[in-house]
Amino acid sequence: MTISGAARIAGIMGWPVSQAFSPRLHGFWLAQMGIDGALVPLPVRPEDFSTVVVRGLMKAGFRGVSVTIPHKEAAFALAHDHDLAARAAGAVNLLVFHDSGRIEGRNTDATGLAASLRDELGDDCVRGKAVVVLGAGGAARAAAVAAHDLGAAEVRFINRTKYRADQLASHLAPHLKPTLVVHENWAHAAAGAALVIHTTSAGMKGAPSLDLDLAKLPDDAALCDIVYNPLETPLLKRARERGLKTVDGLGMLMHQGVPAFEAFFGATPRVTPALRAHLEEALRG
Ligand code: ATR
Repeated sequence: MTISGAARIAGIMGWPVSQAFSPRLHGFWLAQMGIDGALVPLPVRPEDFSTVVVRGLMKAGFRGVSVTIPHKEAAFALAHDHDLAARAAGAVNLLVFHDSGRIEGRNTDATGLAASLRDELGDDCVRGKAVVVLGAGGAARAAAVAAHDLGAAEVRFINRTKYRADQLASHLAPHLKPTLVVHENWAHAAAGAALVIHTTSAGMKGAPSLDLDLAKLPDDAALCDIVYNPLETPLLKRARERGLKTVDGLGMLMHQGVPAFEAFFGATPRVTPALRAHLEEALRG
């Protein structure tokens, strides 16, 4: 698709950025809606990320940038205003440039995950119930905020290094409504849980995945893996074989792009089976 001199331009900033899905995601919506705009990849090394670079893009007419690894914390630090999810995460994945010169930092990972869970499991899937979050990194924060958004009563963290989970729970407690509990014992964490959200990097790049006894979960529990490559992780496969409802990471990826698209291009895109098929095809390479 060609663009004109009046096109709305936004970017995705990361290092590396060649594997990022945002250009494809936004490109699909731009073409579908016939919008004169583009979202371009911006490979920025960690040492080059600075207020100057971001302000330069702003001065060059960019509407904003999506931000990915390793810039999410640095982007948080340079934003003037933050939403609740960004404050809870201490990281942003979206910088919106306003005409006033202010830079708004938002974190749409949690809202994207919550929207994906609503889509796949229903609005009340965890309302008043317990959610287990596996891991204690940045993605675990987003998972806890998503559980809060969905009205969970309790979030149970379990992590290889318990100390990190303790730290995370204390950091998040002032921001979130659910009771936050740290568990060391999987069987205790799993008992009566409505949903498990896996956020660790175990199982990525061919490494062994977490060896959890899924029999400890209630039969009607669901398991979500935020990884989308591969789409069906070994943990999701075992959950499906155990008869649990499963949610892959592609839904979160698609939904986290919706608020960014709205901010950049001024229209609300839809997450549809056609979009999923388009991205699945790209994942198959
Ligand atoms: P992110 O910000 O992407 O979530 P991170 O901060 O590096 O990434 O966190 C990775 C998470 O995966 C951590 O919870 C980590 O556990 P530790 O806190 O003990 O390091 C977890 N993790 C990584 N490899 C793991 C493995 N082989 N088994 C269990 N947990 C693992």
